[in-house]
Amino acid sequence: MPPDSLPHCEANCLPTALTIPALNDVFRCVDQLGPQFEADLVELLRIPSVSADSRSTPDVRRAAQWLVEHLGAMGLPAQLIETPGHPIVYAETRPVPGAPVALVYGHYDVQPPDPLDEWTSPPFEPTVRDGNLYARGATDDKGQMLTHIKSVQAWLAANETLPLQVKLLIEGEEEVGSEHLEHFLGNNREKLACDCVVISDTAQFARGVPAITYGLRGIAYYELHLQGPSQDLHSGVFGGAVVNPAVVLSQILAAVLDDQGRIQLPGFYEDVVPLGDRERDEFRSLPFDEQAFQDELGVKGLAGESGFSTLERRWARPSFDINGIWSGYQGEGAKTILPARASAKFSFRLVPDQDPKKITAGLRTFLKPLIPQGVAMELVDFHGAPGIAMPIDSHYLKAAADAIEIGFGTRPVFIREGGSIPIVNTFAEELGAEVLLLGWGQNDDNLHAPNEKFSLADFHRGIRASAALWHSLAATKQ
Ligand code: BES
Ligand code: MN
Ligand code: MN
Repeated sequence: MPPDSLPHCEANCLPTALTIPALNDVFRCVDQLGPQFEADLVELLRIPSVSADSRSTPDVRRAAQWLVEHLGAMGLPAQLIETPGHPIVYAETRPVPGAPVALVYGHYDVQPPDPLDEWTSPPFEPTVRDGNLYARGATDDKGQMLTHIKSVQAWLAANETLPLQVKLLIEGEEEVGSEHLEHFLGNNREKLACDCVVISDTAQFARGVPAITYGLRGIAYYELHLQGPSQDLHSGVFGGAVVNPAVVLSQILAAVLDDQGRIQLPGFYEDVVPLGDRERDEFRSLPFDEQAFQDELGVKGLAGESGFSTLERRWARPSFDINGIWSGYQGEGAKTILPARASAKFSFRLVPDQDPKKITAGLRTFLKPLIPQGVAMELVDFHGAPGIAMPIDSHYLKAAADAIEIGFGTRPVFIREGGSIPIVNTFAEELGAEVLLLGWGQNDDNLHAPNEKFSLADFHRGIRASAALWHSLAATKQ
């Protein structure tokens, strides 16, 4: 295919691509192999690698094995590294003296597919509709992660030597907190030594507006169990005289936020890095349509911490959410009981420099006076991760912006995002590497929700951008 008919690449980016002969050969391979790349993604998406569900453990392993075999078949011997949890997959291309080393991080585990009856097509039977591939894990993160494997495959298929060494680190526990990867990283600093970490596990700012993400929120996640009487009681016979754990739970959860949307845990805002005027201006200059955002979500209004815009609230201010709540009778009709137990899952999104451990301590102090006699409390502390905000003036970021311009036909905007990737801080701190968050997804990709999807056009644009990235990073002199 002649280079001037490269798809997904508008005229303004062609001159850059055309001046790099090796890259043109690689792009030809990307085009030729495109249908095969889609078929490979479909194969991986068929494996229900739900890390949170122990019944899926054999399938999680199958996904890891699929990757090892797949990498081997494209000429990249890969290792399946055992952990006490789900395995890690690792591979690397040949070292290139004098060039930087890029470490690609991604995850092959996925979120549970529930609620199943809300999927138009089954979550593990990938289906194309309107140019989108629907399946659990399509965007988060199998589809996005695979773009980097495929770009390396295209370089190899074009018989080009990669201009830098690429290390691939794909884990199976991101959706459950990356605990074992954390240990692996601590013990394998030399093996994983790199100059930058490339992660595609975020989103573009909007359709036609690719983005580089320079900040993520952290998270502190809990489960709270309240136990009242030793069994459910008749609410007429005992109600009013015996403490109802569901009422106590409601009071506790309702007390977390004040009427300004501020979190009431002691010391909660102590370490929050305030938003600067310059950054607030930059957020304001992004093409964000609040009405369209509401319409997309099917809500008639928005709410949050007063004094902050929607983008500020989503990206750069902490938040509190109840993620699940259960107690008492859930069946049809009325049943007059006073439930014995009540539970909730809830979480705080954190911003730099909040420390999840400090948040837990504050939470315990907050809970203590709210638990009356007659109720016993158990607090389970799940995964925690701090947030991150990185400088945006580096050479690697500029190289990444150039590559995105080649792959997507437009220069990216710089954004923060509200989600969390727990291991990102560890990469920055333990490996001293710069982290490049290059998201190929869309905000309406339904990640973690029914009908998750990934645009096939974005899949191919991502592969193209990734292929260009190896060139532009290698050409960078730090
Ligand atoms: N890929 C997401 C994180 C993400 C999504 C960041 C969109 C920015 C935009 C990741 O797989 C994820 O879901 N992370 C969890 C972390 C948790 C399980 C520790 C999250 O953010 O809830
Ligand atoms: Mn993800
Ligand atoms: Mn996720």
